[in-house]
Amino acid sequence: MSPETEPLFASEAIALRIGELGQEIADAYRDRRKPPILVAVLKGSAFFLADLVRAIDIPVEFDFMAISSYGPDHEKQGRVRILKDLDRDIADRDVILVEDIIDTGLTASYLVSTLRARTPATVEICALLDKTVRRIAPLEVRFSGFDCPDQFVIGFGMDYRQRFRTLRNIYAWDASDPLSEEVLLREDRRA
Ligand code: PRP
Repeated sequence: MSPETEPLFASEAIALRIGELGQEIADAYRDRRKPPILVAVLKGSAFFLADLVRAIDIPVEFDFMAISSYGPDHEKQGRVRILKDLDRDIADRDVILVEDIIDTGLTASYLVSTLRARTPATVEICALLDKTVRRIAPLEVRFSGFDCPDQFVIGFGMDYRQRFRTLRNIYAWDASDPLSEEVLLREDRRA
């Protein structure tokens, strides 16, 4: 594998860390009266959620939300529109917001406030990648997979213009020196 296609986070390391996060979550919620509800934000978090719930050895429930971020010049400004809401009531339940990546924290911050307004028992955040250097909105990420360097990342659900989500590893993406998706997909399966 060439240095350009060296993963930032390899699938083995991701799997190991998700196993640990699953254990942490199971231990934290084992004695609760009702199973926690994991709320994943489409689309990036779908892969993480699927692996995470299978790493938790207590009963859990899960649901999805879809949102669109908008602001001037298509920049994210923490203004979020809900495109798909939860199918169910979360009052008095333990909720875990599941994100593939937290960057500025604006999206998660908005979602946590929205969820809190529905009077759940608790709301915590679980993120696979936490780009703490980019944080604007202060947030407590209770279950954090990896601290992420200040680089644009693709793979394991994360995209560049809706592509690259199916890569098993996570790579840094440089738009000024883009890698061919075909090459990356081939190398990814070999890694
Ligand atoms: C990503 C990620 C978070 C958000 C984090 O989603 O899944 O929802 O960005 O950014 P922030 O901390 O700066 O608010 P994205 O908008 O890329 O959508 P996607 O999940 O469909 O790829």
